[in-house]
Amino acid sequence: MSPSVLPQSTPKRAPEFRRRLLAWFRRAGRDLPWRRTRDPYRVLVSEFMLQQTQVARVLQFYPRFLERYPDLAALARAPARRVREAWDGLGYYRRAANLHRLAREVMATRGGRLPGDPEALRALPGVGPYTAGAVAAFAFERPVAAVDTNVRRVLRRVFSCEPAKAEETVQLLQPRRGKTAWTFNQALMELGALVCTARAPKCPECPVSRYCDWYLASGGGNK
Ligand code: ADE
Repeated sequence: MSPSVLPQSTPKRAPEFRRRLLAWFRRAGRDLPWRRTRDPYRVLVSEFMLQQTQVARVLQFYPRFLERYPDLAALARAPARRVREAWDGLGYYRRAANLHRLAREVMATRGGRLPGDPEALRALPGVGPYTAGAVAAFAFERPVAAVDTNVRRVLRRVFSCEPAKAEETVQLLQPRRGKTAWTFNQALMELGALVCTARAPKCPECPVSRYCDWYLASGGGNK
């Protein structure tokens, strides 16, 4: 093993990793409708849809759903049957039922305002740790971790991070400023979706391969 392939500590790599990841995202990140808004309801709907459905498919249904139910109040007022219809094509209807229950609960108990705190979000129907982090990070620009399968894989490869330590690692890497934390979380997710894919990752295109344990251990740095 040459010295260049010795794994570096996570904090030591953090500033360069962050800088290169953010620059890459600004250049290569997709322009997706839920990245153009900070409206908590719109972000929430996108995250519910993206839980088990590919981006390309969500893109077909997201605008139509929002046209029908432009805000939490409109969704809460709708009959369950109609909400289910609006979800047609996305499948996993439990998500629609949970979203509908959530809308009614937030209207009844929170004056229609979604909380920005991950703990409070977590208490709502259908909201797991990922969705709570994603809404807090993407709608409220909180410097919290939004760790999905893609992000967990990126962290495992680059930093040899154990799956259970992913949230902690994001906290360590994340910029403190909310706006930059938003970009950082989106960028990490985007790297997992476009480059650091489960099968056949595109290491030669990766902006952070030079900091990646997995790439260096596979001899990537010496190719
Ligand atoms: N999957 C879940 N959240 C996402 C987001 N904000 N952008 C792209 N894919 C996602």
